[in-house]
Amino acid sequence: MHISRTVGDLRKQIAELKQIGKKVALVPTMGALHEGHLSLIRIAKKHADAVIVSAFINPTQFGPGEDYDRYPKTESFDINACEAEGVEIYFMPGVKEMYGEKNHIGFSIDKLDEHLCGASRPHHFKGVVQVVNKLFNIVEPNVAVFGQKDIQQYKILERMRDEFAHPVEMVRAPIVRDTDGLALSSRNAYLTKDQRNKAPMLYQALHYVSMRIQKGDTHLTNLLEDRKRTLTANGFQVDYFQCVETNELQPVTEPEAGQNYIVAGAVYLGATRLIDNIIVEASDRVK
Ligand code: PAF
Repeated sequence: MHISRTVGDLRKQIAELKQIGKKVALVPTMGALHEGHLSLIRIAKKHADAVIVSAFINPTQFGPGEDYDRYPKTESFDINACEAEGVEIYFMPGVKEMYGEKNHIGFSIDKLDEHLCGASRPHHFKGVVQVVNKLFNIVEPNVAVFGQKDIQQYKILERMRDEFAHPVEMVRAPIVRDTDGLALSSRNAYLTKDQRNKAPMLYQALHYVSMRIQKGDTHLTNLLEDRKRTLTANGFQVDYFQCVETNELQPVTEPEAGQNYIVAGAVYLGATRLIDNIIVEASDRVK
């Protein structure tokens, strides 16, 4: 596995791969790899001949007071894991390499970041778009793989891909869960034992609501409020617990049969923020 720390070196390596006809897949990460990331790499391998993993804790997607400074770093584990998965290039640039001294041009997002994580993290997705747009320009991948756990990120990046005409196929990888249902996340490492035991309740609540939608429930207001109250009573601080439509990610309380919806939640257990979601198709009658 080649380790690249500069854009120039990465471009040179990729040009060599492309010259011999290799299809390239990009898996963008912020390091602190877990089984969920490894599943993205395995999916990427099915879609391409060479996988490039980027590991960059992107400062522009963290707001003031968020965990940028303490974001978990497991560099040698990550490198070994990527090597074992057969990754071709591991790209680990520094902040200066990615952004230089100062940036003068940014992004704005309409509607898609109004709700869910965007409501409480107003700069987050602009930073994500900034860095992924740059990675797409540097790598020019044929395929890029992102996890469904960050569904709002996925939807926004899909729009960016279309609106900025990046010729890349995007693959949405399913959420990888622990045996008790908790979605794997680098931030799970922050949880105490007690918090870890409680954490799957978020998934259970999302699962319950998604089952109701699937069974044809068309009145979600009380159902969502009730699940929020249960989570709060169990020590979660609920940031949001919502059902949104899949186009502009606007909240919905009366799902329509045959349409797809995203039931999503973000909660804090202590200082740790957990997110999760389920995509569900509404059916036409209460079963
Ligand atoms: O999902 C992540 O880990 C990050 O948001 C990403 C896509 C690597 C951009 O920094």
